[in-house]
Amino acid sequence: MPGTAAQAAKHIPTARRRGRILLAESAELAQTGASVANIYYDPGAARAAKVQALFSRIAPRYDLINDVQSLGLHRLWKRRVIQLARPRPGEHALDLCCGTGDLALALARRGAQVIGLDFNERMLAAAKRRAAAFRPRAGTPPPSPAAPSEAPPAALRFVRGDAQCLPFPDASFDLVTIGYGLRNLASWEAGLGEMQRVARPGGRLVVLDFGRPDNALWRRLYFAYLRRLVPCLGWLFCGSASAYAYILESLQHYPAQHGVAAAMRGHGLANVRVLSLLGGVMAINYGEKPGPSLSPCQGRNGLARMPG
Ligand SMILES: C[S@@+](CC[C@H](N)C(=O)[O-])C[C@H]1O[C@@H](n2cnc3c(N)ncnc32)[C@H](O)[C@@H]1O
Repeated sequence: MPGTAAQAAKHIPTARRRGRILLAESAELAQTGASVANIYYDPGAARAAKVQALFSRIAPRYDLINDVQSLGLHRLWKRRVIQLARPRPGEHALDLCCGTGDLALALARRGAQVIGLDFNERMLAAAKRRAAAFRPRAGTPPPSPAAPSEAPPAALRFVRGDAQCLPFPDASFDLVTIGYGLRNLASWEAGLGEMQRVARPGGRLVVLDFGRPDNALWRRLYFAYLRRLVPCLGWLFCGSASAYAYILESLQHYPAQHGVAAAMRGHGLANVRVLSLLGGVMAINYGEKPGPSLSPCQGRNGLARMPG
């Protein structure tokens, strides 16, 4: 947990700065002429640009606010993702929409050779800072040829790219994870399709994201929390209420755990499971690409296309 009150207070923008940011947000809204409820949500062609703008704005305080809004619970949920992904030393793992890199780093600490991919430079810069002190386990095999060849050899590397059009050949990874990413894609279906494509036969796919509780009363309380309290935290800690009001907006356009499970089955994944956390407030979707599990040295003879 980060976190003494004094540390948190240091991150709270001054009232004057918050005022300036609110004005900037209103101007942004006026410029887009958007009639949608949230300036960072666009159902059409501008979706990716708006999501980029959102994460560029919140990147410096992303980790802090994650801890605050989930009371640190996101760390436990991410631990569950790692348990389900079952990384083994030497396996090749891909963490999509890696953000500041906590899942990627956790996979690498288990001895996997990990690529974290994200399209936002500021989030990736934070991931690289966080990973700077990381040292691969002794005896970790050399990096995968599926990784971009220009990159220096390491058991953990970060690349910039679009999760909907991955710069890797088919069947490159033993496991593919995505934390709070699928919901942010212009097409979550395309993202899931790419996860399935780059997974090797026998590979594991794990998706963590906000969920939709089945219980109507709990769902109303939770949506009220996302609608009322979370934007206040966004405003307080990073000067942007809209950036955090976006969570509910994006969730309302996302099929959540049951829809993702149905799509996983539609892709022919095996052992599809849904793990509902806190009564469905958060959810982990799990599936396995059918087919034999190959040895770590087989099936990787193509070089990656570098993201443009
Ligand atoms: C909510 S953050 C999640 C970060 C991290 N995985 C975590 O669990 O805390 C979502 C991330 O998805 C990235 N993202 C959104 N759309 C993307 C896309 N099309 N391709 C790659 N990354 C994307 C954003 O830049 C951001 O870093």
